[in-house]
Amino acid sequence: MRAAWLASLPGFATRGLRSLRTSGYWLGSPIESMARRLGGREPLPPLWLRRHTGPVRDFVTAAHEMSSTMQRLGVFEPTDLVLDVGCGCGAMAFEFARLLSTDGRYLGFDVHRPSIAWCRRRFASDPRFRFEIADVATPFSPGRPRRAEDYVFPASDGAAGFVLAKSVFTHLMEREARRYLDEIRRVLRTGRRALVTAFLFAPSAPTPAFPFPDRIAPIRWRVRVRPHSAVAYSQPDFEALVQDAGLRIAEMVPGFWPGAASTPVAQDILLLSHR
Ligand SMILES: C[S@@+](CC[C@H](N)C(=O)[O-])C[C@H]1O[C@@H](n2cnc3c(N)ncnc32)[C@H](O)[C@@H]1O
Repeated sequence: MRAAWLASLPGFATRGLRSLRTSGYWLGSPIESMARRLGGREPLPPLWLRRHTGPVRDFVTAAHEMSSTMQRLGVFEPTDLVLDVGCGCGAMAFEFARLLSTDGRYLGFDVHRPSIAWCRRRFASDPRFRFEIADVATPFSPGRPRRAEDYVFPASDGAAGFVLAKSVFTHLMEREARRYLDEIRRVLRTGRRALVTAFLFAPSAPTPAFPFPDRIAPIRWRVRVRPHSAVAYSQPDFEALVQDAGLRIAEMVPGFWPGAASTPVAQDILLLSHR
């Protein structure tokens, strides 16, 4: 978990440290994959791509846990088209490869080109899988001409039996979150549910893990100079965003709520359906 002093470093220092860390993981990736192969362990995306989505040690366990939660909540059918918003390097694609039937389909998108390129190669021989680049500018994909708040998901109206956004709203500013919720409502088939995770806090609670408040939006962030790196929402305000999108919270499994934890531990899980 990120130390408090790291969260307060100036922008150039955090960027430098991040580049250094990515280079280290990039250099170590071939050695780690060979060690996995020699040890007879399942092949995984290279270390540096896994690190792009969070702590490397959690990559497989977090996906397994989400998989169990989805099955316990009964949110998808094996024949569904599953839309995986911000799919990263495919942690959940590995799970859906087991969970979907031959008629099921998986469509993942992400702003991170190297992750999508890797997923396309890894799942090339499985006709159920498709991966798209979300060609919008974010801190994870700088310099692109389009904005995330205008992005149109690569699926037609009502096409998805299940929409998953695991650890993605934790990187979206309010306007982007609005857009992504609108898009979830548009692509989700009526009567079906989406599962999104978020860090939600009670407006009255202290939020030591997210010390920096936005001046206008009801959000707080963790790293002063990199707001997108970890965003938390006030619960009533997130609920209002959900309602404005024509959705409702059908069920909530608290993780971070009410937000007083000193580190951003488990995310809250929200099941959304049409209003
Ligand atoms: C914490 S990772 C989670 C990845 C994946 N959902 C998982 O659970 O392994 C967040 C992902 O969201 C992607 N991302 C960030 N902003 C995005 C946006 N506006 N649209 C789509 N993907 C985005 C990042 O590139 C990153 O892969």
